[in-house]
Amino acid sequence: MSDLGNFGGLFRLDGKVAVITGGSRGLGLHTATAFLLAGASKVIITARKLEGAEGINQAVSKLNALPVQGRAIGIAANVADTADIERLVKEIGKTESKVDIVVANAGATYGGPFDTTPDEFNKKILDLNVRGVFNLVRLLLPLLEAAATPTDPSRVIIVSSTAGINVPHVGQHGTIMYSVSKAAAHHLSRNLAMELGPRNITVNTVAPGFFPSKLAKGLIDILGGDEQLRDDNPRKRLGEPSDIAGVMVYLASPAGAYVNGEDISVDGGMRLVTGRHSKI
Ligand SMILES: NC(=O)c1ccc[n+]([C@@H]2O[C@H](COP(=O)([O-])OP(=O)(O)OC[C@H]3O[C@@H](n4cnc5c(N)ncnc54)[C@H](OP(=O)(O)O)[C@@H]3O)[C@@H](O)[C@H]2O)c1
Repeated sequence: MSDLGNFGGLFRLDGKVAVITGGSRGLGLHTATAFLLAGASKVIITARKLEGAEGINQAVSKLNALPVQGRAIGIAANVADTADIERLVKEIGKTESKVDIVVANAGATYGGPFDTTPDEFNKKILDLNVRGVFNLVRLLLPLLEAAATPTDPSRVIIVSSTAGINVPHVGQHGTIMYSVSKAAAHHLSRNLAMELGPRNITVNTVAPGFFPSKLAKGLIDILGGDEQLRDDNPRKRLGEPSDIAGVMVYLASPAGAYVNGEDISVDGGMRLVTGRHSKI
């Protein structure tokens, strides 16, 4: 028999404090839900909007209705803005002496022809998807280090996209700067893995394919809708909340403690499909 330590705890997050950006809906909310169900004691979600059907408050209410002891709290912040990230970190520091897990998930995209791309969208995308992630991790470092130990490192998980690996959309609905920003997010993650590994913090990337969400809806419709995208995918479906939950809990829990600088695509294999080869 092998000594696997506390096997029953391999995928548990008991007592952990997590910060999730873009936690009010979509992939961030799936992650927050999974972390609480896995035993996290506190999940702090951030987004810009506090109120309304897509705001933080409704997400916190849903999360706190889960049959678990852990609690969700929400702090409104724009994580594309360095001063606002500083304020967010100060707010977190008022109640927390440590942060075990950071999921840099908030992201922005833009689709349109290359020639007429408004430069403000390039800035918005790079500020949130790259510079904001860099600064979020940098400014949260003292709290991450406070939780980090050699046997149980703190975790940074950067949500990128398979658009950071391939060239998914050019032309009328091109997403060139989004794709570039996500490639940068992958490489930021690898660089941070080297920088922070010796400080007992692991950094990994999760690269989703298509998951129905507000951000993805426009492009899903342009590409022919859910059914067409399901048909194109080697697994014959789009991503589901539990697909994100599984990989996030793996990377954040003892099971993922030795994984560092890795990119995990969660796309049913779609990133490997090229052109007509998917059909023949
Ligand atoms: N869904 C997909 O198919 C897919 C595929 C590949 C990659 N991804 C990536 O997954 C991540 C989450 O996307 P999603 O599909 O879940 O999108 P979503 O449902 O539109 O959610 C985006 C979240 O980010 C927040 N947000 C946006 N800008 C922000 C800012 N400047 N500061 C703070 N929070 C901000 C939003 O809240 P507010 O609007 O209130 O700020 C919301 O909570 C993104 O990084 C995206 O690129 C998604």
